[in-house]
Amino acid sequence: MRPAPVWLMRQAGRYLPEYRKLRASAGSFLDLCFSPGLAAEVTLQPVRRFGMDAAILFSDILTIPHALGQEVRFVEGTGPVLGPFDPGALQFANGRLDPVYETVRRVRKDLPDGVALIGFAGAPWTVAAYMVEGGSSRDWLKVRRMALGEPERFAALTDLLVEATIDHLSAQAEAGAEALQLFDSWAGLLPPAGIRRWCLEPAQRIAAGLAARHPSVPLILFPRGAGALAPEFAGVGACVGLDTTADPVWAAGAVQGRAVVQGNLDPMLLVIGGDAMERAAREILSALRCGPHIFNLGHGVLPATPPEHVAALRRIVREAV
Ligand code: CP3
Repeated sequence: MRPAPVWLMRQAGRYLPEYRKLRASAGSFLDLCFSPGLAAEVTLQPVRRFGMDAAILFSDILTIPHALGQEVRFVEGTGPVLGPFDPGALQFANGRLDPVYETVRRVRKDLPDGVALIGFAGAPWTVAAYMVEGGSSRDWLKVRRMALGEPERFAALTDLLVEATIDHLSAQAEAGAEALQLFDSWAGLLPPAGIRRWCLEPAQRIAAGLAARHPSVPLILFPRGAGALAPEFAGVGACVGLDTTADPVWAAGAVQGRAVVQGNLDPMLLVIGGDAMERAAREILSALRCGPHIFNLGHGVLPATPPEHVAALRRIVREAV
């Protein structure tokens, strides 16, 4: 049996000294995302250091609001800050994302054979959440009020985001991305009917749009917090990413028969390392060993993660069989 392939969400970023060094010379975070030479280098850093089985394009889910004309800034210590939400003024200018596709081409050229390049986008619900709130939020009241209280208005925004996302992911596939992940980090803010309407349905439309243009490029869905609804996403994407709360023993029965399962070590265990991390990683590998499994975290790498723990995790997964 071959070991499960492994890559980590947010495998590039502030926990790596080589990232911090490059970041300090790059200007703003969006400047970094739109500088193909630098973004390609940052994408490759964790592949070189750890020998990951896949690279994930270095970019951000908030490049889509930027391309729609809503101002996006990243403020040190605060996170993303978006300009006023004015739905009437939004118009997708996909030329603004051309540097991202150039990054994809450069990374593909420099990646060793056998290492997959994963492109990505934010899912409409999660991107809408940042657009409507104007940034991160503690309780996400505005976007939940709009989705549940003004469904027609919210549907118009979702339609716009579905089209932009199909366009953005297709362009990444054309530039050389071999798999595509849709990050729905805030799916868990919605009740089940809301998850079906604002996360699952848009994912179906995006999957259909991509299948028409790029039938051989698998789609990975990551509906964080979807809980018992995760199996429904397995009917839509080739692969479903489990968040930290999903029990892999349950997922082996409920999800793995219909889709590849990706996940789902708690990123805090990667901060802690040692026996606790090793035990948890082995439990996940063992629970999912009888079906297709891509080893990953249940959410992104935390900035406090010691890089040596990532190297140790990589070894544990490779030697587990
Ligand atoms: O290595 C990779 O995974 C590829 C790059 C990547 C980034 N963001 C780089 C980044 C990916 C896939 C993302 C996705 C993303 N961006 C998500 C979905 C995944 C998740 O974490 O739930 C979300 C919600 C965002 C929006 C976003 N970007 C926030 C809320 C923040 C601020 C919080 C933070 O961690 O600082 C960002 C900034 C960001 N995106 C950084 C990185 C490396 C840190 C900024 C910096 O280096 O100055």
